[in-house]
Amino acid sequence: MEQTFIMIKPDGVQRGLIGEIISRFEKKGFFLKEMKLIRVERPFAEKHYEDLSAKPFFDGLVEYIISGAVVAMVWEGKNVVATGRKIIGATNPSLSDPGTIRGDFAVEIGRNVIHGSDSVENARKEIALWFPDGTVNWQSSLH
Ligand code: CMP
Repeated sequence: MEQTFIMIKPDGVQRGLIGEIISRFEKKGFFLKEMKLIRVERPFAEKHYEDLSAKPFFDGLVEYIISGAVVAMVWEGKNVVATGRKIIGATNPSLSDPGTIRGDFAVEIGRNVIHGSDSVENARKEIALWFPDGTVNWQSSLH
């Protein structure tokens, strides 16, 4: 079954959006496989965003991600990578539709509340980075 990596960023945690965000994924019918509240160090954040290291906003992005605790999660379900991105909405909250997480809760691209893997391949990489011990098959009997 497909899995994706979802991270509630420090602004999402600080603004009390953890429950709201988890609820949207649960109500859609996806399964929460792993979750941890964690504050990451700079080298770890740089590794997570290494594909963006040449971008002018890279340093600011890393500062943002290490500025407070994040909620790192693995969600599972049919087509969860692409559908998860739809639930999240466009990267730039000015362009994300109302009804999406960013469309409802964010205005700044540099404070866009949540991250979701953009491909199955990147999901695999991100899950391996954030959950190196793998994921537990908690809910296999429900599938
Ligand atoms: P995310 O889905 O985590 O993937 C990469 C992140 O880079 C993105 O969300 C934004 O937080 C950030 N980002 C992308 N473009 C910009 C930009 N132009 N300025 C600042 N941050 C950006």
